[in-house]
Amino acid sequence: MKFAKWLGGAAVAATLAFAASSAFAVTIGFSQVGDEGDWRPAFSKDMQDEAKKEGIDLKFADAQGKEEDQLKAVRAFIAQKVDAIIIAPVVTTGWSQVLEEAKKAGIPVFLADRDVEGDKSLFVARISADFNLEGKLAGAWLAQASKGNCKIVELQGTVGSAPAIERKKGFEAIISQFPEMKIIKSQSGNFTTDGGKKVMEAFIKATDNLKGVCGVFAHNDNMQLGAIQAMKEAGLKPGKDFLMVSVDYVPAMKEALAAGDANASVELRSAIGKYIYPVVTDYLKDKKELPKWIVIPSDLHASATPGN
Ligand code: AHR
Repeated sequence: MKFAKWLGGAAVAATLAFAASSAFAVTIGFSQVGDEGDWRPAFSKDMQDEAKKEGIDLKFADAQGKEEDQLKAVRAFIAQKVDAIIIAPVVTTGWSQVLEEAKKAGIPVFLADRDVEGDKSLFVARISADFNLEGKLAGAWLAQASKGNCKIVELQGTVGSAPAIERKKGFEAIISQFPEMKIIKSQSGNFTTDGGKKVMEAFIKATDNLKGVCGVFAHNDNMQLGAIQAMKEAGLKPGKDFLMVSVDYVPAMKEALAAGDANASVELRSAIGKYIYPVVTDYLKDKKELPKWIVIPSDLHASATPGN
C-alpha cells in the first residue's frame, strides 16, 4: 500500500514539474554587465519584471563588470540549451569565439544596450540606444550653452565599452566644429560615482581648481554626481560656474538638475525589456531576418543654463 501511495505522489510531483516548465513560453539566458551606477540596476530590474509579465523563463547572470564572467555565463547558457541568449557586453572585444559556439549550438544571440565589434552575422540583432547620437546631443547642448567657447574636462565611461567609445566620438564630432571648444582633460571613471569623484579630484588638482574650465562632460550621470561632490568639496559651484552635461537621466540626476548642481542629461531609457523580448520571441517563432540594429530613442533634458 505504502509503495503505491509513494508512486502516486511521485507521479503528481512529476506532472506538476512538467506543467511548471512548459508553463514558460521560452527560456532565455541574459548576460548582464554588472550593477555599476544607477542605470544598470534599473535596466536589470526591468528585464526581470518584463520577463515575468511575458511568461519568459529568464536565466539572469550578473558579470560584475568582468568580461571573463560574461563568457562563462554564455557558455553555461549554451550547455543548458536555452532557446535564446541576450548579452549586454561589458566591452566590444573578445566575443567572436563564444558567439561562434552559440551559432554552432543553434542558439540565436541578441545584443541589448551595448555592442560588440567584429562579425555582425554572429548575432541576430542589437536592440539599443544610439550612443553616438547621445554624445552629439550632449556636445550640441554644450556648444549652445557656451556659445561655442568652452574648455572642457571629460569623464569617460568603461574603457573599451561601446558607450564610452561612441559617446566620445559623437561629442567630439560636434565640438570639433567650434575652434574655441576643446577637451583639455579626459580620463575614465568607469561609469561609477566613486570613479567620477576620484577623476574630478585629480582634474581639480591638475588645473589649479579648474581654472579656465567652462564645462564638464560625463559619459554617465553617476560619474557626474561624483564630480559634483568633488567640486563642491573644493568650494566650486557646479551647475553655476561650470556647465554640467551627462547621460542617463537617472532619478539622482533629476534631483541634481532641480537643485541647479547640473544643467543637462541625455536620457538613456532603462525600461527596454518591452522592446527586447518581442524581438526575441517573434524571431524564435518565424526566424524572419531582422535589421542588425533596432534603435531606441534618447532624449535630452536640460534645466535653465546659467545666464539664460
Ligand atoms: O551601456 C550603458 C551605460 O552603462 C550607461 O550609460 C551607464 O550608466 C552604464 O554603466
